[in-house]
Amino acid sequence: MANNQRLVQTGQLEDEELLERSIRPKRFSDYIGQTGVTDQLKIYIEAAKMRGESLDHVLFSGPPGLGKTTLAGIIANEMGVELRITSGPAITRAGDLAAIVTNLNEGDVLFIDEIHRLNRAVEEVLYSAMEDFAIDIVTGKGPMANSIRLGLPHFTLIGATTKSGSLSAPLRDRFGVLAKFELYDQKELSAILKRTAGILGVEIDEESTALLASRSRGTPRVANRMLKRVRDFSQVMGNGTIDREMVEKTLTILGVDHLGLEELDRRILKLIITSFKGGPVGIDTIAASLGEERITIEDVYEPYLMQLGLLHRTPKGRIVTDAAYVHLGLPVPLAPAAESFEQEQMKL
Ligand code: ADE
Repeated sequence: MANNQRLVQTGQLEDEELLERSIRPKRFSDYIGQTGVTDQLKIYIEAAKMRGESLDHVLFSGPPGLGKTTLAGIIANEMGVELRITSGPAITRAGDLAAIVTNLNEGDVLFIDEIHRLNRAVEEVLYSAMEDFAIDIVTGKGPMANSIRLGLPHFTLIGATTKSGSLSAPLRDRFGVLAKFELYDQKELSAILKRTAGILGVEIDEESTALLASRSRGTPRVANRMLKRVRDFSQVMGNGTIDREMVEKTLTILGVDHLGLEELDRRILKLIITSFKGGPVGIDTIAASLGEERITIEDVYEPYLMQLGLLHRTPKGRIVTDAAYVHLGLPVPLAPAAESFEQEQMKL
């Protein structure tokens, strides 16, 4: 299945741009969940505003779709400054970064998504930009080379990463605030779905909301996307109101099962069970066997499979648990997979 047909995916769909913008919370008061992160940030923002300073640099880490960009927008709004959005892979040369930071105004928020994918040369420039609010620009070549130090406005860098572990230590150390995003619980997802349904102007009952929330793999982006699909189905096949039957029909058509797993989740588990006796098997082997990107499996699919206790990451590779066999309706092996995981841990 092409990436753009999936409910679960790394990027955002282009045709959802407008919807994304309209349903995106603009203030803390509209933002649901992640209280561990927001409670802290509210204090730091208030303190920075009282001192008349810019907010310290912030690093957001966690799986995609949990509202990292949204929260960066809220921070900028609450600070009363502009938000500038870019990403690690988009900044290929040091000059690209220099162009961005020299165009910022005092206090502005620069959001760099996938910051772990910045190349070394760019990262070096970012260090002095973050620490000294200055960059060194080299002009000319060879003996004519000259370095000019350029002062920058006091901006706030918000870096986002799905893997805080793969960030270099010097970069990581330059963030004053480290904020970890967690998957959302059912109650929070229901509240988000209700809010979105209100903005979309669709009616949805409690039961359908809860059902959708339970299939959204802890991710607001998935929840909102599914809500849109159910809205389409009820508009064409029903009376426009979303009820349990409509949600179930849509989920069946989309291949989303009762745990919220979609086709690729099940293919991952089935592969480990049928081709590798339940594991351990390396992530690269899994990716190659399925013809999928390693990063997609690691960042998008595995966090939820692990949260459900269907899959474990071990130093020797991925293994599935008994629950995975049960979920797929396959016979659980005599030496349970979950035990072998514990044995692995004991050996460490
Ligand atoms: N839409 C996406 N994430 C959200 C959140 N955390 N709160 C409210 N609406 C959202």
